Amino acid sequence: MSEFVFSPKPIRIESGDGPWLEAESGTEYLDMGASYACTPLGHSHPAVVEALSSQAEQLTYVQGSYPVEVREELYELVTDLAPDPIDHGWLSNSGTEANEAAIKFARHATGRSKILATKNAFHGRTMGSLAATWKPKYRDGFEPLAGEFDFVTFDDEAALRDAVDEETAAVIVEPIQGEGGINPASEAFLEAARAATEEVGAALIVDEIQTGLGRTGDMWAIEGTDVAPDILTSAKGLANGLPLGATLVREWIAEDAGNHGSTFSGGPAIAAAGKATLETIVEEDLPDHAATLGEQFRSELEAAVGDSVKAVRGEGLMIGIQVKRGANSVVRDLAIEHDILALPAGRTVVRFLPPLIIEEEHVEQTVEAVRKVISEE
Ligand SMILES: Cc1ncc(COP(=O)(O)O)c(C=O)c1O
Repeated sequence: MSEFVFSPKPIRIESGDGPWLEAESGTEYLDMGASYACTPLGHSHPAVVEALSSQAEQLTYVQGSYPVEVREELYELVTDLAPDPIDHGWLSNSGTEANEAAIKFARHATGRSKILATKNAFHGRTMGSLAATWKPKYRDGFEPLAGEFDFVTFDDEAALRDAVDEETAAVIVEPIQGEGGINPASEAFLEAARAATEEVGAALIVDEIQTGLGRTGDMWAIEGTDVAPDILTSAKGLANGLPLGATLVREWIAEDAGNHGSTFSGGPAIAAAGKATLETIVEEDLPDHAATLGEQFRSELEAAVGDSVKAVRGEGLMIGIQVKRGANSVVRDLAIEHDILALPAGRTVVRFLPPLIIEEEHVEQTVEAVRKVISEE
């Protein structure tokens, strides 16, 4: 089947090792986007490869109605790592499904249907998650979407307070908007979302699909605040590049979440990869490493590009540079001239979401390349 939903990049990748990707041409690229944050441990991490292949050999899949040890262990681990008092979860196969479940659970548990999201948000592309996604480029041609969704300006506390009422089922928010351009929410905004939802008995859904798993310097970005969500969603790096999502919920949601399910939810082979990924993140204290290296990366970037860019922002190893020309051309120059893979986030932001295992040398190499590319603008 030819690819018709996205245009392939001109670099054909053959293999991966740690932060490196090797192309068919033999060129080695430094993957400073971790392939959309999906490989926090780097490519083909041995712990994940070993867990996946031995579990696949023992039992690749069995229907979810039969209890299997590895699935139970993953549930226990992921709910233990979730911020208190979240202690229940549901496993799926992607970020959009994790959010789709979050929306369904919140609607069922509250008996309401209004969901409030933020402008510039990205929550996925299935009909429910897409309805919470802001940009017309994702929505055009697919409307009407599912349900009653409304949007408030990101980080506008007053607008959010005004928009939440007794008919609101949930507010969904990214602690740092990823696709929207690396926009960190202020703690005051997240606190306002918590207070407003609590007041009317609505759920606060925190989408940590891009920010979670140590990327921002804490296991979850929300842990850098005093805000305790009702639902937290995770995916992307959860099984280090294999399809796994999680919708983690508090008791009051779990006990009235309704009938939901998915054939592949927490299948043994993927569960083994997820468990190995989470264990490695914890054992190697990668959130802490991301905090230290992120600080260095950001300050070196600021020093290197100074006033030639509009802003450098982010947290830990989730960093965006708002450039003066189009982000795509900077991303292209970094790849073609310096063998460094970055990501655009919108039209003007160049985004770095490197594997959390990168070292100082990778930061230095990237900063030097960015300095050269930006100075050519
Ligand atoms: C914050 C956020 N939510 C949801 C998604 C959707 O995840 P997936 O592409 O796995 O469906 C993404 C993907 O980029 C994301 O960044």
